[in-house]
Amino acid sequence: MAATEGSKLWGGRFVGDTDPVMEKFNASIAYDQRMWDADVRGSKAYARALEKAELLTAEEVKQILPGLEQISEEWSKGVFVIKPGDEDIHTANERRLKELIGAPAGKLHTGRSRNDQVVTDMRLWLRDAISTLTEDALQMISTMVERAAAEIDVLFPGYTHMQRAQPIRWSHWILSHAVALSRDVDRLQEIRRRVNILPLGSGAIAGTPFDIDRELLRKELEFEDISLNSMDATGQRDFVVEFLFWASLCVTHLSKMAEDLLLYSTKEFSFITLSDAYSTGSSLMPQKKNADSLELIRSKAGRVFGQCAGFMMTLKGLPSTYNKDLQEDKEAMFDCYDTVHAVLQVTTGVMSTLKINQSVMEAALSPDMLATDLAYYLVRKGMPFREAHGVSGKAVFMAESKSIALNQLTVEDLSALSPLFGSDVSSVWDYRSSVEQYSAPGGTARSSVLAQVEHLRNWIKKLKTVTSAK
Ligand code: ARG
Repeated sequence: MAATEGSKLWGGRFVGDTDPVMEKFNASIAYDQRMWDADVRGSKAYARALEKAELLTAEEVKQILPGLEQISEEWSKGVFVIKPGDEDIHTANERRLKELIGAPAGKLHTGRSRNDQVVTDMRLWLRDAISTLTEDALQMISTMVERAAAEIDVLFPGYTHMQRAQPIRWSHWILSHAVALSRDVDRLQEIRRRVNILPLGSGAIAGTPFDIDRELLRKELEFEDISLNSMDATGQRDFVVEFLFWASLCVTHLSKMAEDLLLYSTKEFSFITLSDAYSTGSSLMPQKKNADSLELIRSKAGRVFGQCAGFMMTLKGLPSTYNKDLQEDKEAMFDCYDTVHAVLQVTTGVMSTLKINQSVMEAALSPDMLATDLAYYLVRKGMPFREAHGVSGKAVFMAESKSIALNQLTVEDLSALSPLFGSDVSSVWDYRSSVEQYSAPGGTARSSVLAQVEHLRNWIKKLKTVTSAK
């Protein structure tokens, strides 16, 4: 049913009814009702500012605040009734307030516009969302770090170009992803600072002609600062874009990790076994166990970046300041939040339950992966690296032509390539001592990986205390 023009907050200058299709097309209540709590919080603070400006009496505020409280209760109990004409969360709450307390409800919007109201709601909502995502991400990173600590002694092949490169610790691989994700968490905290700005008091475009104490609003709503320019505050959505971009990058990182794990979980690799809790079967092939969790994590990067790119397109070339195009910001923001929230939790689940097949991982190491170490052996005996690289390459070629493994070449074979080779070359063919050489900070030696574990543990601890104080 379409609402009549008389029931609309902006109905005054209209004589005709809104087309029902347009009514639905225009409305955002279906999704922006998620911000009901932020909307009520904003209105409570605004009522206090209006009282201070003597635009509301103490009596009126005494009616408005409990009215808003009841609206809050209705939403939280799931009994708030959305009525025809409730275009968005702002109009719905105002309409309900009028039903509950009558005339004073009509004063609450004095000097306020939905243009400053909607961005206030969004900033409040996103601030909470960022806290949740920070917790999710810390949980995930902590799971990864503890797994890395527990499985520090497991070796497996490291790949570049998807070709066997050098032996590394499995923990080193885990932490390589944890470190990237820790930067995402840091980035999110930087974004939070820019989200945490109060736009209320900007009106529709020009600011407010009333004595609205914006500093009081800032304190009430616990924002860090107030917006500097009312046109910017109501017309820009870069805080949303930053979040969408952040979400895109974070899920992109996770898609890379998921792809590695997918490969490792194939029969061909068999490095890991995914828990049944994060796998699904095939309706046709009884033997199948599919890593759907990882495939979905991988896929979500496309979806999230799609939202980011889509909303950027919406913004491109928009004239100043508020245009209804901006209403598109919310579905993108909610969808990216929901997606990342789910992805982080599933990733934590996958990472805490998968089993590694240590013997398979270590059996996948092959002597050719020590060709670099063979060159370093010669470097330690004084040969320039470029030359050593060439000699080691020739050794690889020799082994290949003899159809034997690199470590099967005899000292005599090797001596034909360089007189620097001696019987001590046998020490090169040990994977464990190989990784131990890489002990500079950041490397794959046990001590280096443990230092990375410690660094991340401290970083998590610090972040937890900072974020719990917020
Ligand atoms: N639902 C609207 C939005 O999401 C609220 C702001 C409406 N402002 C306006 N001038 N029509 O953007």
